[in-house]
Amino acid sequence: MNFENLKPQVISILSEEHVERDVKLKNLCQFLSDNVDYYNWVGFYFANQDNRTLHLGPYVGAETDHTVIPFGKGICGQVAESNANFVVPDVSAQDNYIACSFTVKSEIVVPLFVDGVNIGQIDIDSHVIDPFTEADERFLEFVNEQVAKLF
Ligand code: SME
Repeated sequence: MNFENLKPQVISILSEEHVERDVKLKNLCQFLSDNVDYYNWVGFYFANQDNRTLHLGPYVGAETDHTVIPFGKGICGQVAESNANFVVPDVSAQDNYIACSFTVKSEIVVPLFVDGVNIGQIDIDSHVIDPFTEADERFLEFVNEQVAKLF
């Protein structure tokens, strides 16, 4: 996977004129899911700092019951508190994990910072074990830097 080739398209999806932010984010999720074969569920969660909860935003992939996740719960909730990337090579080895589907084997969550504040995250589930490398982390950090410009 050559992430460098995907970067210009990420920028162009997010800079489309007359397209609402949530539609751009959904288009971005679709693009990532279509172009990286092990990105099987791609979505955004956004933080409500007052309630200390994460709320599901645009996503593509299987429907999920987990539309609201308390800070601290699951991989997503832990990233809301840690402000750090969380790569899970094998979800079955995690105690604090919220299962969406038995088909999900691994997960990566990368926080989304706007002006230094963690306002949410991109969350990606994969149906294969241990697919994510540092290249995914760097690429998704790039993606989130571009997304941050919409806020
Ligand atoms: N597995 C996540 C929950 C969100 S779903 O992957 C869409 C977690 O443990 O936080």
